Amino acid sequence: WRIPENGSESPEARAAITEAGELLGTGGIVAFPTETVYGLGCDAANTEAVERVFAAKGRPSDNPLIVHIADERQLEPIVKPYSGTAAKLMAAFWPGPLTIVLPALEGAVSPRVTAGLDTVAVRMPAHETALKLIAAAGCPIAAPSANRSGRPSPTRAEHVQEDLESRIDGLVDGGPAAVGLESTVVEVSEGCIRILRPGSVTAEELAAAGGCEVVEQDEGAAGERSGQPEAPRSPGMKYTHYAPAGSMTLVAGEPEAVSGYIMKEAAMAAAEGRRTGILVYEEHAAAYEADAVLVLGSLGRPADAARTLYDALRTFDKLGIEEIWAEACPQEGIGAALMNRLTKAAGGRLIQV
Ligand code: TXA
Ligand code: MG
Repeated sequence: WRIPENGSESPEARAAITEAGELLGTGGIVAFPTETVYGLGCDAANTEAVERVFAAKGRPSDNPLIVHIADERQLEPIVKPYSGTAAKLMAAFWPGPLTIVLPALEGAVSPRVTAGLDTVAVRMPAHETALKLIAAAGCPIAAPSANRSGRPSPTRAEHVQEDLESRIDGLVDGGPAAVGLESTVVEVSEGCIRILRPGSVTAEELAAAGGCEVVEQDEGAAGERSGQPEAPRSPGMKYTHYAPAGSMTLVAGEPEAVSGYIMKEAAMAAAEGRRTGILVYEEHAAAYEADAVLVLGSLGRPADAARTLYDALRTFDKLGIEEIWAEACPQEGIGAALMNRLTKAAGGRLIQV
């Protein structure tokens, strides 16, 4: 179903949302747009449907799903009493790109959704079509990102088609995603917010709204560094993610040093017959030459880069690029989340020049 960009109010859009909602409410698995990335949704209480979502994605079953709600009334039946800090974050950021890990009420959602944890991750997306669709389904909707496991998250309906076309019951096309990176995931206890996955809601914003300490913790990265076997709090972070098919290296430093290094490396790779790709900021694009030079956006507008990143990674794949270099970006605002995803896409290869 295609929903026009200028709104979900037309009769065609309403009919599409009703139909897709019915499909979700009766055990179907349907991909739909949110402000962050496209999700692959199903009734969170329907274990059979949840299992089909895992199968369609090829996702490891110990990685829990986020439950999406359309309004606060859908929250109470699935969670136990939660902290005042969590309530403050809901008031400040919902609907929006913030997922909050809350104490789960046993039996309310399928155990496959929580992967056996005693918590459930919940978010209310800031997207008209998504909210109407969840309301039309009449139940909380469990939805991981609508990509094959290990591929970049889908920011356009075409990305969902590339990855999942024949494996799902429906796709609601709402145009390109406004944010382009997955939601910030937090775990909250009285007096402390722990960031399990950075996103467009930043640590500073969380501290201001929660009025408390914020700890930034990337489970995957932390685990890799220390090698300690402790179970990750957010199981998803231990998997390699967002990886393009080509091998990628992230390069940080002064712009001239970065472009000098990358062009030298790229020339060597090209001489050996490998196809090269470079991911750069508008301001530095003229300094580069390769089989594919993709521009993420302007350094001054990191939100643009966030919106373009996954599409660019998919483009490198389509062009058969074998070696990719990417300029590192400043860590301010959404830049922290962007660097997190770039680092994962690079499998941790970050070079300082
Ligand atoms: O923006 C988003 O969050 C998108 C859209 C579709 O809403 N969804 C998304 O879902 O990115 P997914 O499944 O790709 O990532 C969910 C993340 C994983 O890292 C998972 O481990 C974590 O949330 N998660 C889910 N339930 C959790 C829980 N109970 N405790 C800790 N982490 C949890
Ligand atoms: Mg995902």
